[in-house]
Amino acid sequence: MRMKRDVIIACDFSGAGEVYDFLDLFKGGRKPFVKIGMELFYAEGPSIVRSIKERGHNVFLDLKLHDIPNTVKKSMRVLSGLDVDMVNLHAAGGSAMMRAALDGLTRPDGSRPLLIAVTQLTSTSAEMLRDELLIGSSMEETISSYAVNARNAGLDGVVCSPREAAAVKAACGPGFVTVTPGIRFEGASTDDQVRITTPAGARELGSDFIVVGRPVTAAPDPVAAYNRCLNDFI
Ligand code: C5P
Repeated sequence: MRMKRDVIIACDFSGAGEVYDFLDLFKGGRKPFVKIGMELFYAEGPSIVRSIKERGHNVFLDLKLHDIPNTVKKSMRVLSGLDVDMVNLHAAGGSAMMRAALDGLTRPDGSRPLLIAVTQLTSTSAEMLRDELLIGSSMEETISSYAVNARNAGLDGVVCSPREAAAVKAACGPGFVTVTPGIRFEGASTDDQVRITTPAGARELGSDFIVVGRPVTAAPDPVAAYNRCLNDFI
């Protein structure tokens, strides 16, 4: 079940036509690992996942489940049937929910997609953690502790910033997977990302998968930008 380090393209498009036009650019070459998020999934439904899989891509379905254990278990069973390669949930749902998710995700033959936990969203500030979520521990402590909970529940890894990858590996072991967004080429626009790292920097910091959106999808030559990510990261 262990997958090789890779570059995942965040396909943050609003409809199927746009995604297919984008993926057609890669015909004939290496088929990128792609991330399908809530916007596209809610717009197009499960058929978009099936058709991208049929085109030969690995798929990270980024739906960040967070509900009672039974609901998450049954939902994960549905997602597993879509033959995706990676799915995620919120570690804040707790250990029982994470164990139930793993159970639901495991196919009759024992195979399953990688299951990754979101610890704290990168949009959550230290102030929000303290004043709204009423969490008294620091952001770093919270992330490491949630990552340990995820590992103890049997999950494969977490989504985090590349800068947190080393702390997560130290707390959970080198085999615990880190999936890291917030990637930008040297000197490029940061857009709305705050804590950014280059593909080469993410490799040095120990990321296993980088998630790259606009630096590839909005590039004048997306295939060249993707190949640059591969060269720098792998
Ligand atoms: O365009 P960009 O490279 O910023 O896209 C990053 C992708 O990773 C987006 O799909 C975003 O939703 C996702 N993401 C993130 N930060 C997180 C979790 C997911 O940027 N903490």
